[in-house]
Amino acid sequence: MQKILVWDLPTRLFHWLLAAAFAAAWLTAESDTWLALHVFAGYLMLGLVAFRLLWGVIGSRYARFASFRFGPRAAMAYLQETLHGKAKRHIGHNPAGSWAIYGLLGLAVAAGLTGLLTLGGEENHGPFAGLLSYGLGHAFKELHEGLASAMLALVGLHLAGVAVESLLHKENLAKAMVTGCKDGETAQAAASPRRFSAMALLALVLAGGAWQFKGYALETPQQPYRPFVGPTLPDNKVWRAECGACHLAFHPSLLPARSWRRMMAEQDRHFGESLGLDPASTREILDFLENNAADRQLTEAAYKIDRSVPAGETPLRITDTPYWQKKHRGIPAETWRDPKVASKANCAACHLDAEQGTFEDGAMRLPARLGK
Ligand code: HEC
Ligand code: HEC
Repeated sequence: MQKILVWDLPTRLFHWLLAAAFAAAWLTAESDTWLALHVFAGYLMLGLVAFRLLWGVIGSRYARFASFRFGPRAAMAYLQETLHGKAKRHIGHNPAGSWAIYGLLGLAVAAGLTGLLTLGGEENHGPFAGLLSYGLGHAFKELHEGLASAMLALVGLHLAGVAVESLLHKENLAKAMVTGCKDGETAQAAASPRRFSAMALLALVLAGGAWQFKGYALETPQQPYRPFVGPTLPDNKVWRAECGACHLAFHPSLLPARSWRRMMAEQDRHFGESLGLDPASTREILDFLENNAADRQLTEAAYKIDRSVPAGETPLRITDTPYWQKKHRGIPAETWRDPKVASKANCAACHLDAEQGTFEDGAMRLPARLGK
């Protein structure tokens, strides 16, 4: 018996990068602030799995799927033998461990894809941008979270398995995944560490990271980098000219269609003003408002405003909708009194993208932080 190479370098790199990506994705899951990192972790996992599938065919001896092609029955039998303390030692993956690997690869793909669907629907980003409503994206998020939890559970089982096997065969399996070496006979060794493929994999990961985060290096205080700006929302000249004359042109996505119908019907008494629009302009503006109203769920704000307004109510103020009130409850009274704010409806005082109507999290700045 002597030290022999079992895990080639790309396999080890894949293993620890996947573990790190999963940990990073898990830790950044709850906060929008870390979304760019979370999404990168997701892409990384998908990319790593793609690499592993390839490596399972062209990799070295123990990395190949052919070396751990065990059926479910073999895995069950192996688990039973382990419970009785008499499971056979495997140089490569054992039958139960193999199934943990297949499960983790499958769950990583499923979690990654549902993550991209969530990103497409909720943030209008990634390969599925523009193809799903916010609501559908939100539904995929539930699935995404379920899959991530299942993956965490399987990671737990995998770690338990590694611990039990290590004790049973008196060898440190975690260390073997670092050094690549185990005790064995020369004939059992994997041929080569495949250093070149490992460097190529690492270079790809680093290039992907640089691509994903380059915006942060280029940002300035005036032009903060916003990684998840959705696509430009529909615009209309007549609407912007007429409805932007006295105040910000509030984007249609901020109130339900029935509110806009009521507002246009009551345009002779618009908050104490008469709008005096001719019938053609009224028609064009109302069409634009209805076609892009909150009910269409063009943005996260639209989706949430629409769901917060009770079915029987037709609010004329965005600032009266329950979602708006909930989101702005925490803002202190002196901020509202600040001359730079003056009115709750002065959205642009705090939202850099109020004109565009997108209301991204990253575009929100309280006046104090804008500088005097
Ligand atoms: C002649 C000036 C004027 C024009 C033109 C005008 N508005 Fe207004 N609008 C007001 C005033 C005044 C208020 C009340 C502002 C306040 O209380 O802070 C208001 C408030 C609003 C609000 C409520 C904001 C909130 O949530 O508190 C909406 C929505 C709105 N206007 C939509 C429109 C639309 C749509 C048009 C175009 C069809 C339009 N406005 C054109 C004067 C105008
Ligand atoms: C005094 C500053 C201020 C004004 C004025 C203001 N907001 Fe906000 N808004 C905030 C802050 C701060 C938050 C973040 C609250 C949080 O995340 O808990 C926020 C959050 C939001 C959000 C939720 C964004 C998200 O994804 O979390 C929306 C939508 C929004 N505001 C819309 C509006 C609209 C529409 C107006 C004008 C009618 C407006 N706000 C006026 C400060 C302001």
